[in-house]
Amino acid sequence: MARDKKLIIGNWKMNLGVHEASLYVHKLADQVKSHRDVEVVLAPTILALQTLSVQVNYRQFKLAAQNFYWRDHGAFTGEVSATQLRGIVQYGLVGHSERRHVFHETDKDTRAKVQAALRNGIKPILCIGETASERTMGETSDALYDQLIGGLANVTSEELEDVIIAYEPVWAIGTGNNAVPNDVIAAARAIRHHLKHLYGSRAASSVTILYGGSVTEHSAADYLALSEIDGLLIGGASLDASAFAGIVEKAYQSVKKK
Ligand code: PGA
Repeated sequence: MARDKKLIIGNWKMNLGVHEASLYVHKLADQVKSHRDVEVVLAPTILALQTLSVQVNYRQFKLAAQNFYWRDHGAFTGEVSATQLRGIVQYGLVGHSERRHVFHETDKDTRAKVQAALRNGIKPILCIGETASERTMGETSDALYDQLIGGLANVTSEELEDVIIAYEPVWAIGTGNNAVPNDVIAAARAIRHHLKHLYGSRAASSVTILYGGSVTEHSAADYLALSEIDGLLIGGASLDASAFAGIVEKAYQSVKKK
């Protein structure tokens, strides 16, 4: 077990407007209790971040940016920087499969965003995962290694303490085809093995690793029981406040059992 806390992140993607996001948080706040061993993070549309940053009690919820640009300021029409998000979010998703595959972000972009987040006091959640064909070819561990090297080049072992790794197999995201716990165990072990090679055993054992990919209220407990991972990154199932509250409740139960 890397840490004795659980981290549960809801990634709403391009869903829920500002008003809906605010209503959701209101509802969720009534349904979940604050627990020092469970951290709940919400990643709404960037439009809602400012409003929610005023609305949320940071002891109950933290906020994450779904995306940001890696330069701090300048002539980059339409972009939002980590510097501008500083003080509003505590976390930022980096290298999500939709950024890599729909928007063709490269490892170079991912690396620059990890750096931008760290430089601005935002914890990057580096998302990595193999495609279906890499999995079929038995290349999962190699794919994870390449994405770790790609995203973490220039990150020191001290900085690694602020980096979260989310294992999100591409074939499992939004498909209803979730990775079974044994797949998650194997991937988390591979990630720690690679990090040990890059940063040494202490850093490798203490890094926070999440699983994401078609997790539901019904499957969450099976993952939360695994000592190899420290929490979940939830897409579709986080859009319903009651379902997400149910997952947070399972996280409470999993830490109580320890
Ligand atoms: P999903 O998304 O839970 O809808 O599969 C996970 C993610 O994209 O982070």
